[in-house]
Amino acid sequence: MTYEVIIPAAGQGKRMQAGKNKLFLTIDEAPIFIHTLKVFEQDSNCSRIWLVINPEEKQQMQEWIANFDIQKIAGLVAGGIERQYSIYNAIKLLGNSAIVLVHDAARPFINENQIKQLTEVAKENGAAVLAVPIKDTVKKVSGDIVDETVDRSSLWAIQTPQAFRISILKEAYEQAFKDSFLGTDDASLVERLGKEVKIVLGDYDNIKLTTPEDLYFAEAIIQKKKKVNEK
Ligand code: CTP
Ligand code: MG
Repeated sequence: MTYEVIIPAAGQGKRMQAGKNKLFLTIDEAPIFIHTLKVFEQDSNCSRIWLVINPEEKQQMQEWIANFDIQKIAGLVAGGIERQYSIYNAIKLLGNSAIVLVHDAARPFINENQIKQLTEVAKENGAAVLAVPIKDTVKKVSGDIVDETVDRSSLWAIQTPQAFRISILKEAYEQAFKDSFLGTDDASLVERLGKEVKIVLGDYDNIKLTTPEDLYFAEAIIQKKKKVNEK
C-alpha cells in the first residue's frame, strides 16, 4: 500500500530548551529529523515526503538532506504558527496517492512494520492512528485537589503517524479552517466530522522528543536497537 507522508518540522522546540529547533540536535550521529526522514526514505511503500519547515532553516535542512542523500522529498513547505497550520500548508499540495500519513519529525523511532499495519487499517477504515495504552494512573484535578480517578482501561496515548484517505484528511482540514477549530492532533479534526478513527497498537519506543530528559530515553532506545541488530 503506497502512501505519501507529511512530516511537520517547523516547530521551535521550546520545551526542549536547546536554544534552537530541537530537530537539529544530534542523536546517534545525525540530527533528529534526519533519523525520521531515513525511515520513510527506506520504506519502499512511501512514494513522496512533504517536509514542513521554518523558511529560516531551509538552507541548513537542505544541507543535511543532501549529506544523508534523502531523495524522496517532493517539497519543502513553509510552516505556520501552529502545527495544524503547518500541516494544512502541505495538504494543499498533496498528490493523488490514496493514503496520506502525518508523522512528527520529533518521533525518530518509528519503524516500517508499524507504518505498514497503520496504512492497511487506514485503507480499510479511512482513518487510523498509532496508540499505546496509558501506563500511569490518571486523575482529574481542580487546582491541587483530586476530583476523581479516571478509568484507565479506556485511555490511550495517541502517537503519530496518523494515516488517512486523502479525501477525508482534506475535508477535515478544510472544515476545521472554516470553523477556526484548532485540534491537538490530525485525527481530532476527522473525529469532529463524525467519522470513525481506528486505533492501531503502537510501540512504547515511538516517543516524541519533547523535553530534555527525553534525550536520555532516546539514547537508551538507540542502544537497545543496536543490540537487537547485532544479534
Ligand atoms: N511543528 C510544526 N509547526 C509548528 C509547530 C510544530 O511543524 N508550528 C512540528 C514540530 O517541528 C514537531 C511536531 O510538529 O516535529 C510536533 O510538535 P512538538 O513536539 O510540539 O514540537 P515543537 O512545537 O517544536 O516543540 P514545543 O511545543 O516544545 O515548542
Ligand atoms: Mg509544539
